[in-house]
Amino acid sequence: MSDLYAVIGNPVAHSKSPLIHARFARQTGQDIHYEAILAPLDGFVETVVAFRQRGGKGANVTVPFKLEACALSSRLTERAKAAGAVNTLVFEADDILGDNTDGAGLVRDIVVNLGYALGGQRVLLMGAGGAARGVIRPVLEHEPAVLTIANRTRQKADDLQQLFASSGNVVSTAYGDLRGQEFDLVINATSASLHGDLPPQPKGIFAAASLAYDMMYGKGHTPFLQFAQQQGAARLADGIGMLVEQAAESFFLWRGTRPETEPVIEMLRSSLGSP
Ligand code: ATR
Repeated sequence: MSDLYAVIGNPVAHSKSPLIHARFARQTGQDIHYEAILAPLDGFVETVVAFRQRGGKGANVTVPFKLEACALSSRLTERAKAAGAVNTLVFEADDILGDNTDGAGLVRDIVVNLGYALGGQRVLLMGAGGAARGVIRPVLEHEPAVLTIANRTRQKADDLQQLFASSGNVVSTAYGDLRGQEFDLVINATSASLHGDLPPQPKGIFAAASLAYDMMYGKGHTPFLQFAQQQGAARLADGIGMLVEQAAESFFLWRGTRPETEPVIEMLRSSLGSP
């Protein structure tokens, strides 16, 4: 019988994870079955317990359960502790190990797939919610010159700055104060693109040869990537690479083998009609 894995979320029907993990399994010859499970909003823990009873060996966790998954874990990896959220569960005999592969996925997409070294670069992170928090430590591990966090609600950016101040050169700011500053990498970790909105960043923030990265994706460029293109950002990237890389990192954790991500990124890009 195949080893059983799942993604648990609400909603979850749109999730690309079953498709991605099926491709990984075929490519690496691993015998797994991976399904999507819709958990009731007030029934995450019960859903996990039932899945484990059915023989589940591990799970990905998506919106809105990443904090509950963190609380449910009996052990956490360092990066899950730093992220304060869990997107990958490993069911062990006596423990539930909680990990977070989102930040590692983002950084791997930027550094390996896009070939963009982060060391010494000026990085702007827009947003201070769960998505932003998860990527701070993995980015700082690459020792950028500065990591500036901008958020609409300034206090949340300040809180993250304090939380990570001992891990690198982290600055928090309001969007308006970005005027006159330039960055080599601008990451949109806000949920603005989900609503077709643009974060209120000023013009002129993209340095020559800069990379604009939107953690969201869709058909065509997101509003942020359109803005970045108009503003002369040298390179544009959406979140498809991150999506596949975070999945590969989970797969590696579960199966001990690292799948090739490039063909899966290409397959998703063409099926989504993304640029
Ligand atoms: P996630 O888990 O995706 O990070 P979240 O924790 O709700 O979701 O955080 C959403 C982030 O997107 C926040 O930083 C939010 O800014 P506020 O803290 O000021 O609410 C940001 N955000 C959402 N819509 C935005 C918009 N139109 N412009 C700027 N920032 C936006």
